[in-house]
Amino acid sequence: MIQAVLILIKPDGLKKSLTGNILSRLAETKLEIVAAKMVRVSEALAKEHYRHLKDKPFFGELIDYLLGKLHNRKKVMALVYWGEEAIKKCRDLAGATNPEEAEATSIRGSYGRITTSGLYENVIHVSSDINDAEREIKLWFNPEEIIVELYPAKEIIAKEVKKQIWA
Ligand code: PPS
Repeated sequence: MIQAVLILIKPDGLKKSLTGNILSRLAETKLEIVAAKMVRVSEALAKEHYRHLKDKPFFGELIDYLLGKLHNRKKVMALVYWGEEAIKKCRDLAGATNPEEAEATSIRGSYGRITTSGLYENVIHVSSDINDAEREIKLWFNPEEIIVELYPAKEIIAKEVKKQIWA
């Protein structure tokens, strides 16, 4: 089954200069990258991304982590990988969510850690299933930022939209 999956290289991955290593590992999947960008994550975006965890004791710290407050790196790299069994392929390479349980050669097993307060700093996020992937991709990307049509989109004429253009 052809699938799309959202990958986030989190602030610890960027601070540890792991972008190249992680992208090389993910290239083993032979999947296609159909969207990629650097994002300065807003609190609203972080809270929406992890909204299903809002009652967990680590929620506040998890949000600070994605915002880059724990690593003084206020950015995340967001990518969409696309192709046959994309979710399973990327999740297999990423390893278990808990870096201590992740296979040693996986991305999280190689580079992740658990903080003294118990937060998983696991370097990357990978959507867990096709429903999560659709929700997360639509949250992080606009249709025009993705080079294939993953989900139905429509054109609108937006009036009085404030945006930056080159001076
Ligand atoms: S669940 O329980 O299945 O709804 O959670 P899950 O989808 O696996 O996502 C949990 C995310 O929270 C991050 N995180 C932790 N989870 C559990 N315990 C601790 N201590 C913890 N610290 C952080 C975990 O890494 C998951 O985020 P992602 O970005 O998917 O790795």
